[in-house]
Amino acid sequence: MTSTLLRGRTLTFLRSPDSTDDHGAFRYEEDGGLLLRDGKIIAAGAYAEVASQAGEGAEKIDHRPHLLLPGFIDAHAHFPQMQVIASYGAELLDWLSKYTFPEETKFRNAQHGRRVARLFLDELVRHGTTTVAAYCSVHKQSAEAFFEESHARNMLNIAGKVMMDRNAPEGVLDTPQSGYDDTKALIAEWHGKGRQRCAITPRFAITSSPEQLEMAGVLCREHPDLHMQTHLSENHAEIAFTQELYPWSKDYTDIYEHYGLLGSKSLFGHCIHLSEREADALSDSGSVAVFCPTSNLFLGSGLFDYQRYRQREKSLRIATATDVGGGTNYSMLRTMDEGYKVIALNGEKLNPLASFWQMTRGNAEALSIANMAGTLDAGTDADIVVLDSRATPGMRLRMETVETLTEELFLLQTLGDDRAVREVYVAGKPTKSMMVGSENE
Ligand code: GUN
Ligand code: ZN
Repeated sequence: MTSTLLRGRTLTFLRSPDSTDDHGAFRYEEDGGLLLRDGKIIAAGAYAEVASQAGEGAEKIDHRPHLLLPGFIDAHAHFPQMQVIASYGAELLDWLSKYTFPEETKFRNAQHGRRVARLFLDELVRHGTTTVAAYCSVHKQSAEAFFEESHARNMLNIAGKVMMDRNAPEGVLDTPQSGYDDTKALIAEWHGKGRQRCAITPRFAITSSPEQLEMAGVLCREHPDLHMQTHLSENHAEIAFTQELYPWSKDYTDIYEHYGLLGSKSLFGHCIHLSEREADALSDSGSVAVFCPTSNLFLGSGLFDYQRYRQREKSLRIATATDVGGGTNYSMLRTMDEGYKVIALNGEKLNPLASFWQMTRGNAEALSIANMAGTLDAGTDADIVVLDSRATPGMRLRMETVETLTEELFLLQTLGDDRAVREVYVAGKPTKSMMVGSENE
């Protein structure tokens, strides 16, 4: 098996950085090397050292002066919403009924699902994202389309067929039994096939009957290693309606708690308006709150209090995500730039090192996949993004005054997008440069 030797400025995180000069939190090599074989990183460090292990036959790719980082991880996105993104003028519940649910009915058609799944993964990779936790539509065939496309690319992705059995049009409804059966069938066929991972995916309490949430809880107990993903506390009207539907509940989180849906593999999108009790319940169970800044701003949902959640006595595990198509960009750089602004509106700052930790190792830890993705550690999968800090004239000019790595990362986050992504390796294979225009039908 031939191996590949990459050269460039390598950056990988060891832990969450505490300050803008917390050099102990990361490993940076000005002249770094990564040796890839069989889809894995088998050595990482100073180029001269790594090169000495490479052997004669290794293919050498020189990415200097660019940065080599672990591929970005997007902890929450909806692949059937590619033609929902940029829909004008509504808050969450109206946005769902006016744009999102009608669009998702189209995914009954498997061919449509396959086309959009292909374009979705193309778009993620073009933006440097190598792993996503994705919502499919209610239709089993949409999840099959997603997994087929993901598997063909050998991407590590987490996805689930959405379970929803009420408060939406007929064309996007299942039943408690069919939601259970279809999820079981998807798990049997796809979970653990190559790098594919299934998630139990009840959309949210408004669109699931008590019987369906009960079934979701049964699935979680039957498959404790699987992720569970849903939405929680995004918008005030949503919270009020949820309370009407589950009048016995202490609060929104209590509903999911009641059905056994909290836990260390549970991903809750948004979590903006949590009470202290709810935050404690998420913390006690090791559940993950997923911050989706572009979506929260676009839908006018509110300001996620990232720093308070991290620093409170019972801290929350946090991931960050695009939430396309409520979110407005496929890029994790753009996402963290908007995250920075949301945090600023809460009177805090997000240190650029912490930001890059978050979209790589931080999100990998939140998704419990850091043994495979999110770092450049030897033994992990070779999902790597190559970033060019001088990708545009404006970036090039600003780079003239940049003196530190932290400043460079902040520039990349503030001005960068897909143009800053020079190459993306998925399981060791160069992918972005191989794309020849993604629509060929
Ligand atoms: N809550 C339930 N479904 C959705 C969705 O598709 N997007 C967002 N942003 N929130 C939701
Ligand atoms: Zn969402």
